[in-house]
Amino acid sequence: MPHIKVTPISKEELSSRAKNHSEIIEFVAHSDSYPETLIGINYQNEKFLLVYKYADNEAMLKYEKITRPLKLSLLKEAIGKVANVLEFDILSSNIVNVRHKEPLFASKYFKKIEDFIDIKFEHKEIAIEVGFGSGRHILYQAKQNPQTLFIGIEIHTPSAGQLLKQIEIQGLSNIWVVNYDARLFLEMLPSNICKQIFVHFPVPWDKKPSRRVIGDEFTSEAMRVLDIDGTLELRTDSDLYYEYALQIFSKLPKLKMKINKNYALPIISKYEARWQRQSKDIYDVTLFCDEKSDDKREKFDFSFSDLGYNININKQFPQESQVVGDYFVHFERSYKTDKDTLLMKCAFGNFARPEHKYIMINRNNCKYYPSLPIPSSSNFKAHQAIKEYLHG
Ligand SMILES: C[S@@+](CC[C@H](N)C(=O)[O-])C[C@H]1O[C@@H](n2cnc3c(N)ncnc32)[C@H](O)[C@@H]1O
Repeated sequence: MPHIKVTPISKEELSSRAKNHSEIIEFVAHSDSYPETLIGINYQNEKFLLVYKYADNEAMLKYEKITRPLKLSLLKEAIGKVANVLEFDILSSNIVNVRHKEPLFASKYFKKIEDFIDIKFEHKEIAIEVGFGSGRHILYQAKQNPQTLFIGIEIHTPSAGQLLKQIEIQGLSNIWVVNYDARLFLEMLPSNICKQIFVHFPVPWDKKPSRRVIGDEFTSEAMRVLDIDGTLELRTDSDLYYEYALQIFSKLPKLKMKINKNYALPIISKYEARWQRQSKDIYDVTLFCDEKSDDKREKFDFSFSDLGYNININKQFPQESQVVGDYFVHFERSYKTDKDTLLMKCAFGNFARPEHKYIMINRNNCKYYPSLPIPSSSNFKAHQAIKEYLHG
């Protein structure tokens, strides 16, 4: 990852040099407890942070994990520009004269979860594959149905990268790749938009059933997202998962379901091929959606509008993670700018997919930086708890 090593300068000197460059540096915020300073950047319409980490003989200017822009070239340019305007004495750098290929995750077919906030699809037909693994099935489906947009949602980042590579190699334009937890993803989608949701060979999690993709909430969200005649298609080699899924599905108020055993599909994933060699039984459970759902997506308000805070408020935040029901809040560390603003690094929301954000707090204003949390119900519950901590 791009970074520059420089001769250290004092915090005060850094703040003073930064003041003259508001065209790129919005603020600097120093930590009281760690030898590091955050630098708020506004470059080419992207807001993000750089970190200045210092020791006695050497300091480093590098990217900040939570806010890092996806475009590596933009990040490198910004680091170079900031080092330049701050007049750093550069000891070594890996950003100059190194031409990086843009990472696969800068592909237009890679979608961030934020891209689905209030999304209005232009595609006539949409299908989703949950946990696509090597991607064989979604690639096959996309080629067979060029008019359908296939959204592949996979929690394992290397598999997401592998599918993006195949999309590029095979010249496909009807697959979007989302690297996120499928259990939280459906909540982001409008109702009645989807014709198929495939869940092929989900991880059985026999010892920790709570980690299974299919659960009560996932199933009801899937039925909401499916349009009339849409299907949720589970394919599994696990007897236990099959029985578990039947139990979950039977809790739906209305149920239309078809079961097949050892029914061959035109495409076999690497995973399925392994089970076939072992002559394992394979179950298909298909749920049909036969009524429209309300578009009941809630509008979550993540503002702190009624509050103005004391900059020393961080002293009253709990040090330990606060677990409340099915979500948590953790105040990690704080930084202060010269203008009496506190920047609080937080993790919160669902345990499976925590949200990481900064909260910018001063006497007149309080807001998430650099952007609002994903509007999920667990993030919203955590936001309410954060507001309570802010009230003391
Ligand atoms: C056993 S593999 C099956 C892969 C593929 N569907 C196939 O048939 O070969 C299960 C896949 O689901 C992914 N996965 C597990 N939990 C997930 C979740 N909560 N959200 C999205 N993907 C998940 C795993 O990373 C893995 O790639």
